[in-house]
Amino acid sequence: MEADFWLDKWASDQIGFHEAAPHPLLVAHWQTLGLAPGARVFVPLCGKSLDLCWLAEAGCEVVGIELAGVAVGDFFAERGLGAQADERGELTRHCAAPYTLYHGDFFDLDAAELGPVDAIYDRAALIAMMPAQRRAYAAHLAALTRPGTRMLLITVAYDERAIKPPPFVVSAAEIGTLFDADWHVETLAEANAEVKGKPAREFVHRLERR
Ligand SMILES: C[S@@+](CC[C@H](N)C(=O)[O-])C[C@H]1O[C@@H](n2cnc3c(N)ncnc32)[C@H](O)[C@@H]1O
Repeated sequence: MEADFWLDKWASDQIGFHEAAPHPLLVAHWQTLGLAPGARVFVPLCGKSLDLCWLAEAGCEVVGIELAGVAVGDFFAERGLGAQADERGELTRHCAAPYTLYHGDFFDLDAAELGPVDAIYDRAALIAMMPAQRRAYAAHLAALTRPGTRMLLITVAYDERAIKPPPFVVSAAEIGTLFDADWHVETLAEANAEVKGKPAREFVHRLERR
């Protein structure tokens, strides 16, 4: 979606995607990535998700990027953390250990700025992208990572006649088209879910960078 779509959602507090608890598929499947203690995890399009806190409590260093400044501000304020902010080109970096959250556009973050990461956690990031944005999103994730990087990716399926995206349905075939060249992709599990009050299925995938 365009930037204004998301900024309007945050400005009007229409953030139905923000969950009140860590995502069950994250909790159930994170350990399948087999990361070492202290792993550095990148969370694209992170919002102010409680998943960031769950990852920190699991011992990870957490690096996120989010377009909406209000989300970044709320994340630190809601936990009473005073973050140090500095300008990094187009981005503003907010740091309060173990969190580093960039305020800005995912596509403006490069590998030199991000630094090495051991894993990516994508919940409602790929599926927030319009079809025309997804190839660029996948290519940018590949550019930000090195061989051996792991990723936990959550996608969703629902009756597309009944629900207006986002989130978008991204099929298994499209996941293959987007990621197979750079990642080994394995679907771990699926579970019942709700999207906008309607029944849906969620899928959790484990990816490893080739
Ligand atoms: C569906 S929400 C998911 C947020 C979070 N992952 C969660 O699970 O709560 C998508 C988020 O991506 C942000 N976003 C959209 N496009 C972005 C971009 N190009 N760069 C950074 N953030 C972006 C939006 O502001 C929004 O907070």
